[in-house]
Amino acid sequence: MIDSKTNSPTNQPLDVAIIGGGMITTDQLLPAIYQLQRTGIVNQITVANRHVSTLKELANNSDICSAFPGQSFNAIPALDAPDDTFDPDAAIKALDTLKPRQAAILALPDQIHFPMVTEAIKRDQHVLCVKPLVRTFAEGQKINELAKSRGLFVGIEYHKRYDRRALLARKEYETNSLGEFKLGEARLIEPYYFRNTNFGNWFVCEETDPFTYVGCHYVDQVYFITGLKPSAVSLTGVKGTFPGGNEGYFWSNGRVIFENGAALSVSNGLGYPNAGPGANQQGITMYFDGPDQGCVLEHDDQNRGASYSFTTNKGPGGSVYNHINPDFFKYIAWDGKGFLPTGYGFDSVAANINAIHRIENQIRGMEEGPAKARRLELIQHIDQQGFIATPSNSYINELVIEAARLSILNDGTFVDIHYGDNPRVEMRTRLQ
Ligand SMILES: NC(=O)c1ccc[n+]([C@@H]2O[C@H](COP(=O)([O-])OP(=O)(O)OC[C@H]3O[C@@H](n4cnc5c(N)ncnc54)[C@H](O)[C@@H]3O)[C@@H](O)[C@H]2O)c1
Repeated sequence: MIDSKTNSPTNQPLDVAIIGGGMITTDQLLPAIYQLQRTGIVNQITVANRHVSTLKELANNSDICSAFPGQSFNAIPALDAPDDTFDPDAAIKALDTLKPRQAAILALPDQIHFPMVTEAIKRDQHVLCVKPLVRTFAEGQKINELAKSRGLFVGIEYHKRYDRRALLARKEYETNSLGEFKLGEARLIEPYYFRNTNFGNWFVCEETDPFTYVGCHYVDQVYFITGLKPSAVSLTGVKGTFPGGNEGYFWSNGRVIFENGAALSVSNGLGYPNAGPGANQQGITMYFDGPDQGCVLEHDDQNRGASYSFTTNKGPGGSVYNHINPDFFKYIAWDGKGFLPTGYGFDSVAANINAIHRIENQIRGMEEGPAKARRLELIQHIDQQGFIATPSNSYINELVIEAARLSILNDGTFVDIHYGDNPRVEMRTRLQ
C-alpha cells in the first residue's frame, strides 16, 4: 500500500513477543511496548512465561493497569489457565505466533539468553535482548553471525546509554573537554529484598554475580563515553545463602583496566537497605587528565534531586520518604488516557523497536535479495553509530563478562582481554 502524500509504503506496525514476564518486563519492557502500541509502532503483543501465575500478576499490575486503561496482551499460557499451570514450551510457542521479521524481546535469566536468542533468530525474528546478551565472546559472535546471515537486527538493552547525562558526557569526551580518562569508581547496589524474590532460583554462584548482573552497565557506560576498550578484569565476590538454600554472590568488587592503563573500580551487591529512600544506590565518578588541568565527572545516579514523602509506604522497599529518579522510568501525567511512561528506560526500548520498525518499513514491497541487502546496510549503520548496543559494537561487554566470571570463580585472579584477529580472555598465572 502506498501513502498518497509521501509516495512511500505506509507504516506497518510490528507484532511483539516478550519472552519472560518477570521484574524487568513489569517495570520497563511491557509499559514501553504498550506506549509504542499507543503511537502505532506496535500492533499485537504476546507475553510468555513458564508459570502462568507470573503472567496473571503482570496482567493485574496496578501501575500498568492505571497507566494503560484498555490495553492488554495475549498470554502464553492463557490467563484463564489454573494458577499452578507450568508450560516449559511457552517461549517457543510465543515465538511461533509471530510472522517472520517481527520483534522478539527476551527478558529471561542470563543463562538462557544464548539458546533463546538463537531460537528467535532461527525463526526469522529481529531481537531485543536484555543485558547481558550472553556471557562469552564466542556466543556473542555466533549470535552476530547467525543474525547477519539472515539480515536480522539484534539489539541489547543497555538503557544507561540513553541517560541524558551519559549522552552529554560522551559529547564532552568526544570534543576533548574532559581530557583523558584515568581513574574511576562506579557503584550499583540493588535492594536487599531481591534476596527474597525469584533471584534465589537463578542468581547462583555458578551462573552469575552482581557485576555480571548490573556492574556491566557502568563498564559499558565508560566504554560508551570514552571509546576505550577494557584490557583486564579482576573480580572478587562475597557469598551468601538465599532463603531457599542456593548460594549466590551477594556482593562483588571489580577492577577493570582499560587499554590506556586507566582503572575503574566497580562495586555491586544485593544489599541496599529496604528502608532506604531510593530504589537502589548507584553512580559513577571519573577522573581525567587534561593537557594542564585535572578534570572530573560525578554522577549521582540515584538521588537526582527530587524527594517525596508519601502518605503511605509506597517506596520500592516499603519506605515512606523517597528519592525519586524521574530520569529512568516514571509514569507521568499527560493529556492522553492513563499515564505516560517516560525516561531513558522508555527511550532505550523505543530506540530498538523503532529501529526494527524503520528497517522493516524501508524494505516493504522489495524482493528478498535486495531487501536483505538493504536490511544489512541499515543494521551496519546502527552498528557504526554505536548508540544502540549491538553484538558488533558492544562485544567488549561479552569479553568483560567472560573475564569477570573466570576471575570471580578463581578468587579474583586478573584475567587479560586480547583483541586483534582472535579476541579472547586469558587468566594470568599466579607467578606473573
Ligand atoms: N538494569 C537492567 O538492564 C536489568 C534489570 C533487571 C533485569 N535485567 C535482566 O533481565 C533478565 C530477567 O531479569 P528479571 O529481573 O526480570 O528476572 P525475573 O526472575 O523476575 O524474570 C525472569 C522470568 O523468566 C521466566 N522464565 C525462566 N525461564 C523461562 C523459559 N524457558 N520460558 C519462559 N519463561 C521463563 C521466569 O519464570 C521469570 O518469571 C536478566 O537477564 C537480567 O539480567 C536487566
